[in-house]
Amino acid sequence: MLDYSQIGARLDALEKLPSCNSNNSISKALEQAGFSRRDFMKWAGAMTAFLALPTSFVPMVARAAELADRVPVVWLHMAECTGCSESLLRSDAPTIDSLIFDYISLEYHETVMAAAGWQAEDNLNNAIEKYKGNYVLMVEGGIPTGDQERYLTVGGQAHTGYEITRKACENAMAVLAIGTCSSFGGIQAARPNPSNAKPVHKITSKPIINVPGCPPSEKNIVGNVLQLLLFKELPTLDVYNRPKWAYGLRIHDLCERRGHFDAGEFVQEFGDEGAKKGYCLYKVGCKGPYTFNNCSRERFNSHTSWPIQAGHGCIGCSEPNFWDNMQPFEEPMAGHKFGTTLGLGADNLSDKIGIGVLCLTGVAIAAHAVIASIQKNKD
Ligand code: SF4
Ligand code: F3S
Repeated sequence: MLDYSQIGARLDALEKLPSCNSNNSISKALEQAGFSRRDFMKWAGAMTAFLALPTSFVPMVARAAELADRVPVVWLHMAECTGCSESLLRSDAPTIDSLIFDYISLEYHETVMAAAGWQAEDNLNNAIEKYKGNYVLMVEGGIPTGDQERYLTVGGQAHTGYEITRKACENAMAVLAIGTCSSFGGIQAARPNPSNAKPVHKITSKPIINVPGCPPSEKNIVGNVLQLLLFKELPTLDVYNRPKWAYGLRIHDLCERRGHFDAGEFVQEFGDEGAKKGYCLYKVGCKGPYTFNNCSRERFNSHTSWPIQAGHGCIGCSEPNFWDNMQPFEEPMAGHKFGTTLGLGADNLSDKIGIGVLCLTGVAIAAHAVIASIQKNKD
């Protein structure tokens, strides 16, 4: 049950806390970047729908966004490429999401802070001490463990990533695993996993919100911050601890090429006529039917594009063990994973004799593709 008065009281209490940036505010920053109040309220309306909240929440979502600089955030980098931070920070024109992220009280973030060496270590320890129990911890990257724990050793005191993350988790109000590496191990944990990298949830008993993606969209990151500001509790999560409001549907469900899938119209190889016509990419490896994420709805770079619109299939980057399980990225899943019939790749069959193939998650999908292809060939 949503209790409006509790949320109102919570936002009132947040408002009384000092802002991280006393010389500026999120509202002023938005104005300076050319966003009108109307733009901001439109954005708040879209975020409300995005978080699957009723429209009556729009003013509260707007208020929570304006108070995002009241909650301290500690952002740790483990074994990773910094792509998740980059995707938020490097937009060519600031979006409302990236501006809000700029104004979040980032108490510690190795990519953006000026401090280095001893001073950086002090900053982290001070932030953990000062905001004990009240900060949001965001972890980017997998964590080397066991005999290989020292593969990730940081700073003059030679603490390992494992030690730093465990300590920061213990004292956090909430922990978000940002990106696939911290959510599921990602590329770091791909076979043979030489550093024995593990996701955050394997090294702490704290409840974790996983925000996977390689990288996750900025909306999924900012949406989680808003959720915590409004409710101070975990959102409804799926079996992999991903918020359902962001990861509740498959890429395939809202894909713009879905009509072609249903009609049995597939790209057979990159650059062919089908590719020029925007046909479905399943046969050149799209893993959209097996992948839960909202890219097909939200896209990237201010909603301009996303992998499938750019012409390549989804590689399943927000799923556990995607690097091992979804390979080869440019071959259809059922064909390489689940054997063949009459010596033909299972996915080839959809064009030839229409025998269903298939795999646990792919049964319905491949059967659908088979029927659609037969129909198409008849036509
Ligand atoms: Fe879109 Fe991929 Fe599904 Fe085809 S298989 S409709 S390209 S998600
Ligand atoms: Fe990843 Fe697929 Fe989205 S590859 S970015 S989940 S379209």
